[in-house]
Amino acid sequence: MTVPLHAVKIVDRNKAPRDFQSRFLPRELSIWPRMKHPNIARMIDVFEDISRVYMILEYAENGDVLRYIQKSGAIKDHLARIWIRQVGDAVRYLHDQDITHRDLKLENLLLDSCYNIKICDFGFVKSHSMKELSKTYCGSKSYASPEILRGEPYDPKKADMWAMGVILYIFITGKMPYDESKGNSGVLEEQRKLSFPWHKFKYVTPDVKSVILSLFRASYTERPGIHEVMSLEWMRKGLEPPAAAEPEGAPGGKQSPVSIQNDSKLDIQREFATALHRSRGK
Ligand SMILES: Nc1ncnc2c1ncn2[C@@H]1O[C@H](COP(=O)(O)OP(=O)(O)OP(=O)(O)O)[C@@H](O)[C@H]1O
Ligand SMILES: [Mg+2]
Repeated sequence: MTVPLHAVKIVDRNKAPRDFQSRFLPRELSIWPRMKHPNIARMIDVFEDISRVYMILEYAENGDVLRYIQKSGAIKDHLARIWIRQVGDAVRYLHDQDITHRDLKLENLLLDSCYNIKICDFGFVKSHSMKELSKTYCGSKSYASPEILRGEPYDPKKADMWAMGVILYIFITGKMPYDESKGNSGVLEEQRKLSFPWHKFKYVTPDVKSVILSLFRASYTERPGIHEVMSLEWMRKGLEPPAAAEPEGAPGGKQSPVSIQNDSKLDIQREFATALHRSRGK
């Protein structure tokens, strides 16, 4: 019998800032355990002693996606689509419940034993019982939307969408789109220009470029929400079998969509093995 492994996230209350303890930690502890989705790392249990909080988490054997991309560089269209769709599936699950993650970034995307995405770190999560805008500056500057960098009240769902754009850009190019070291005004300038060296990146296609640019729409009211993005053609490619492959008069019409996870498992493992091989050879 194999015993499932768990990870433990330990927060030392004596070292944590006051607002983190009073606002952020209670939200993480109340919302995360309720999240049940194949692409969200499960929080299985939580307990405390005098000074520390222990979160017992589903263990993701293959680490986080930042580490993966640092080893492998840019990832191919096919794998980028699988992973961003898995991120999107989880984000749709959250947004449909009026919950926003507010810290989506490569370090917070874990990989399980089959290289499926598991979103973790609900340290900035928020549940929006009212439709008010957020005012707290959360997350990392490289993934922050222009309205957040300008310090304006923002729609947290649309801020998650911007972060998804940054994630997809990094998947496909292996580079960060915005240079955090330039400070808020420097990043805002880059976000306004959107002049990226697309020609340098071998996995960029017009279709994926257009998905990324739609997520980088400056005005959050015009930026697409998760349902709109998930229905874009590039995102859906491979989900439905081509019409010509459908047997005539087949009962129920279309076949059910192929399972992303099983279908792609081998491919991902092969890519990962290649990446490891390459990095060992360096
Ligand atoms: N369940 C898990 N399985 C495997 N690795 C994990 C797991 N949870 C977290 N990690 C690793 O630990 C890192 C930090 O975890 P997490 O983001 O939850 O903590 P954090 O306190 O918010 O840290 P940070 O401030 O760096 O975001 C992740 O980026 C990941 O590499
Ligand atoms: Mg984190």
